Amino acid sequence: MMNKDVAKIMIGEEDLDGIVSRLAEEISRDYSGDDKRLVLLCILKGSIVFTGDLMKKLTVPVEIDCMRVSSYGNGTESGGNVNILLDLVRPDLDKCDVLIVEDIIDSGRTLAYLVGYLKHKGVKSVKTCTLLDKPSRRVVEFEPDYKGVEIPDEFVIGYGLDYAEMYRALPYVGILKPEVYENK
Ligand code: IMP
Ligand code: MG
Repeated sequence: MMNKDVAKIMIGEEDLDGIVSRLAEEISRDYSGDDKRLVLLCILKGSIVFTGDLMKKLTVPVEIDCMRVSSYGNGTESGGNVNILLDLVRPDLDKCDVLIVEDIIDSGRTLAYLVGYLKHKGVKSVKTCTLLDKPSRRVVEFEPDYKGVEIPDEFVIGYGLDYAEMYRALPYVGILKPEVYENK
C-alpha cells in the first residue's frame, strides 16, 4: 500500500532491485583483483537501505564503514556547506579502496567535498556510487563513477531517503506530496 503522503511511486521495489543488481555487477567486476580492498562507505543516514541491499549482491570481499554528513538542514533545499557529523577513523586508510555509497546527488556538494576530503586523508583510491541523480540541480560539477538512475527535479523519499527524518523505511522511491512540506 502507498503511504498517504506519497503523490506517486517513482521507482518500485522490483525496479530498485534490478538497478541495485546491475550496480553490484559493475562494482564486483571492477573490484575483483587480488590487489583490491573494497570498503563501502555508507553515507548515513540516507544510504543505509541502498548500502545494505548492494553489499548482499556483491561477489567480491567487502568491508563496510560509515560517515555521517549533513548539507540539507531540515527542509527540501540544500545548504551551502558540508558538515562532518561522524568521521571515518581507521589506521589503514592507505590500503583501502573506498567506494562512497550515496542515496542521491543533488547540488553535488556532498560528494565533491567527500572525495576531496578522503583523498586528503590519504586513502588508496576513492570512487563514488549513487542510486539516484538529479543532474538538473547541480551547483558543483560532479559525475559519479557508478549511477543507478537519473531522475527529474522532484523531492523524493523512501528507500532510505527522508523528509524531516520520516519515510526512510518505505520500500520504494516516491514523490512526496508538495503540501506535506509547503504547509510546514
Ligand atoms: P547534495 O550535496 O546537494 O548533492 O545533496 C545530497 C544530499 O541531499 C543527499 O545525500 C540527500 O540526503 C539530500 N537530498 C537531495 N535531494 C533529496 C531528495 O529529493 N529527497 C531526500 N533527500 C535529498
Ligand atoms: Mg543523504
